[in-house]
Amino acid sequence: MRNNTYNRKVDMSTKTVEISLLEKEEQNGYMAAVRAHNDAFAERNGFRRTAFVLTLGCQQNESDSEKISGMAQAMGYDLTDTPDDAYLIVVNTCAIREHAEKRALSLVGQYKHVKAKRPETIIAVCGCMTAQEHRVKQLKNSYPYVDILFGTSQLHRFPEFLAEKIAKGKRVLRSDEPENTVPEDMPVRRESNYRAWVSAMYGCNNFCSYCIVPYVRGRERSRRKEQIVKEVRELVAQGYNDITLLGQNVNSYGKDLGADYDFADLLAEIDKIEGDYLLHFMTSHPKDATHKLIDVMAQGTHIAHHFHLPMQSGSDAVLKAMNRRYDFARYVSIVDYIREKMPDATITSDIIVGFPGETEEDFEATLTALGRARFDMVYSFIYSPRKGTPAAEMEQVPDEIKSARFERLLDRQNEISLENNKKLEGQTLRVLCDGKSKNKSEAINGRTDGGRIVFFNGDESMTGKFINVKITRSETFALYGEII
Ligand code: 5AD
Ligand code: SF4
Repeated sequence: MRNNTYNRKVDMSTKTVEISLLEKEEQNGYMAAVRAHNDAFAERNGFRRTAFVLTLGCQQNESDSEKISGMAQAMGYDLTDTPDDAYLIVVNTCAIREHAEKRALSLVGQYKHVKAKRPETIIAVCGCMTAQEHRVKQLKNSYPYVDILFGTSQLHRFPEFLAEKIAKGKRVLRSDEPENTVPEDMPVRRESNYRAWVSAMYGCNNFCSYCIVPYVRGRERSRRKEQIVKEVRELVAQGYNDITLLGQNVNSYGKDLGADYDFADLLAEIDKIEGDYLLHFMTSHPKDATHKLIDVMAQGTHIAHHFHLPMQSGSDAVLKAMNRRYDFARYVSIVDYIREKMPDATITSDIIVGFPGETEEDFEATLTALGRARFDMVYSFIYSPRKGTPAAEMEQVPDEIKSARFERLLDRQNEISLENNKKLEGQTLRVLCDGKSKNKSEAINGRTDGGRIVFFNGDESMTGKFINVKITRSETFALYGEII
């Protein structure tokens, strides 16, 4: 059953299935076969085939791409940053908004010339966009140079698809509906040697009416607690000091397992691991954000005092139409509780403007809500209709109105972010150093526990280390300071 049309029945009953040992061994066999093929090439030519992995979208995709890169390396590819030289190109796509899909399609289009130059280059497209029937058709028909297509829950079968393409030469289009699988023990090639993603769970059951995620990522399924704790313990032992637990809705963690523990228990358990590290998690759904979770954070040793709590709108009518299952009063009571228990907490949020039916009054309620919640940072989005979701069928707000509201939202939030940042002047904050900044080439930058960017007078040898920085100046999107 393909789940990406809203009116079709969505199966919520299936149980989480961990990939079996047998299946893992099967994939290991495919990996060995591709590796032999690539080793023979290297032997003949004196250099190794290269792979280029491009990631669009969220942290979950970044995490998936680290697994794709890990598998590619295990299959004998050297990783490259230049698609023009690559013998294997993987585009890990996003479908959250139209812009993301357009970007993915345009990038895939650009790789046509690589294939024209070197026909043996294999192009694979995966991720959220390829879990939709209409996009699969489009890629199949209009992008004939795409060799492999697979969906989000078939990541662990990438070696099989690649081996099949190499052995038979035919296209491998295997973008089936999301399955209830949980892969374990896959090779991972982490981008950083101090920041790491750890999946706590996959999928989402919430069906917010604007969101494509439940259709392309499937039902909620949790990893076993022991597996997660083991992974974090190993990362801390390897020197990782900034670990983020991922899940579309981490507060639902454990429900599908029928476990007697929840996400707060998982956090508390991980927090017991000794070491100098910081633990983050994202994303939380306000309907499930419990006092227990906030208490665990407040009492924890390693848990960042950072809560990313998407509000989406400050209007109760819009929240209802969004199927968010909370109202603003409930939302703000959580914010108040976080501030009561952790006065130093950074609270960030997501807001959508121009949701179908949003009136001027609704929008003003969101502006008022910003003033009440006083977020430190907001990720704001113009509503983008997603095919197959209920909101796409509702009466749309005209584009000019959406854009004008978006600008007003940014202006209001920027004032608040600046006011909040000003309060940090004179304070000493712990900053995890990220080395030289990409934008300001000379400056050294890092992030506070809550994710604020800080520029300071450090040097590159501090990269990956916690540094205490006294904040001397603040702007809307950045702080400036000096090492204590
Ligand atoms: N249009 C605009 N923004 C969206 N988001 C999710 N779906 C859409 C959409 N169709 C936003 C939500 C979510 C964030 C990850 O992306 O705010 O929290
Ligand atoms: Fe999308 Fe809502 Fe699930 Fe978040 S909780 S992934 S917004 S459906």
